[in-house]
Amino acid sequence: MTNSLFIGKNLIELDSVDSTNNFARQMLSNSRPIEGTVIVAREQFAGRGQMGSSWDTEGGKNITLSVILYPDQLDADKQFFLNMAIALAVKDFCEFVLHDEVRIKWPNDIYYHDKKLGGILIENTINGSKIASTIVGIGINVNQDEFDPALPNPASLIQIRKPVEAATYDLPLLINELCAYLEKYYLQLRQQHFNFLDKGFTVALYRYQQTHEFKRGETIFKGEINGVAKDGKLIIHSNGKELRFGFKEVEYII
Ligand code: BTN
Repeated sequence: MTNSLFIGKNLIELDSVDSTNNFARQMLSNSRPIEGTVIVAREQFAGRGQMGSSWDTEGGKNITLSVILYPDQLDADKQFFLNMAIALAVKDFCEFVLHDEVRIKWPNDIYYHDKKLGGILIENTINGSKIASTIVGIGINVNQDEFDPALPNPASLIQIRKPVEAATYDLPLLINELCAYLEKYYLQLRQQHFNFLDKGFTVALYRYQQTHEFKRGETIFKGEINGVAKDGKLIIHSNGKELRFGFKEVEYII
């Protein structure tokens, strides 16, 4: 039983794969899988994160999946709205599980207080001025209890819920639920509800309108996150000035 109409209807379940995003890319290179095809792996041995980083999680305990979408009406210069839609879906899904507030650490990390619950890796193929296809990779820490101490601020859903939830989470059930949230927000994007996505994303931002320290190169400065520009840049107000940063141009001090 799925709660969604098309996301996850075609569900490909793999025991072990290098990366579900790589698997999806391979599928797209020689076929046109139906929109909403989801590739789920019990274990990834070369999971990828943003900007060439790796995504290493324990096999069988977490959500690692990729979704194939064709947002072909979306102009390439609006691709950050796809990021917004997916991040909002994952955030809402985590809130549904935790019964508590979850935030989006720009551009697309999912945070519970100061801990990272999950991440998103979106890989678009552009055709002219439009997005032809996209692979949405999602990793959410679910039942994992221990993390590599080298990882920055990791946490899992079970670690947060442990005091109230004795057992582990049922991954297929959660994946089913996640698909419904993804579909809800993807349809908002398809209907070009850009303001809705922008507003939702902005107010869900981790440390939104709070003064905190940031790092640019070797310089530490204080500022307040005020939103995200249409091109996806983070807007920080600092010392009476509006600053805009691309991904990796600014670091949060947590
Ligand atoms: C990040 O926070 O850097 C993004 C992590 C994205 C991880 C997911 S797990 C499923 C999919 N397959 C991958 O290789 N990466 C994404």
